[in-house]
Amino acid sequence: MDRGDYILLKILRYDATEPTVEPHFESYRVRIIPGLTILTILLRIRDEIDGTLAFRSSCRSAVCGSCAMVINGKIDLSCRVQAASFGTNTIILEPLPNLRVIKDLVVDMTPFWNMYEKVKPFLIRKSPGPDKELPQSDEERKRIDQYANCILCACCYGACPVLARNPDYVGPAALAKLERFVLDSRDDRPASFIENVNDDRGVWGCDMILRCIDACPKDVRPPDSIVGLRKQLLKLRIKKLFRKKGQE
Ligand code: FES
Repeated sequence: MDRGDYILLKILRYDATEPTVEPHFESYRVRIIPGLTILTILLRIRDEIDGTLAFRSSCRSAVCGSCAMVINGKIDLSCRVQAASFGTNTIILEPLPNLRVIKDLVVDMTPFWNMYEKVKPFLIRKSPGPDKELPQSDEERKRIDQYANCILCACCYGACPVLARNPDYVGPAALAKLERFVLDSRDDRPASFIENVNDDRGVWGCDMILRCIDACPKDVRPPDSIVGLRKQLLKLRIKKLFRKKGQE
């Protein structure tokens, strides 16, 4: 793609405050240069062509997780996808699936955050922490590395086919975050804490379709966490059975 090439951006537009107007595509023809990201083009459209266009962004460097959307059928962060990478001059943008659209590419993240909150995504300590930091060995850190990379962009949430049919499912991001703290050497939550996700709305709801792995821009693999949590739940179950037998 050379300096001076044009691209046609087709954006699904909708405004929840005007529900009588059906979702519809609007097209914007924009001149681009190599290296421009989808987010940069959106910012240009909003600044120079259509100030009513709504989308989220902040860091512009794949860190804050706010700019997730569907780009030519694939869920990704708009700030890390270059327009020239598609080999086509037409690019279609749609909001993240599985979340209610507020306006254009902005979705209501409340259900995502509610599920996240459910797993208590923070270190739980039996006693107050020491004055200094709690060190970890390289091995201990490696155990949680991939999950600590999650930027909570909800790409996996949007890609999940289980959430498409069951909004009560806690979702891949929350389960990956739970495993991140369960595996953390500094966390003291009781082993039984994971009983909170011991049902079809939790770890047993996942169909292992694995779309969340494809969608994650940070190479987190939520199914690894789900398998890990399932194994731990089975161990707890076996322990309970043996304890019961011992009492008989
Ligand atoms: S703007 Fe922060 S991740 Fe894209």
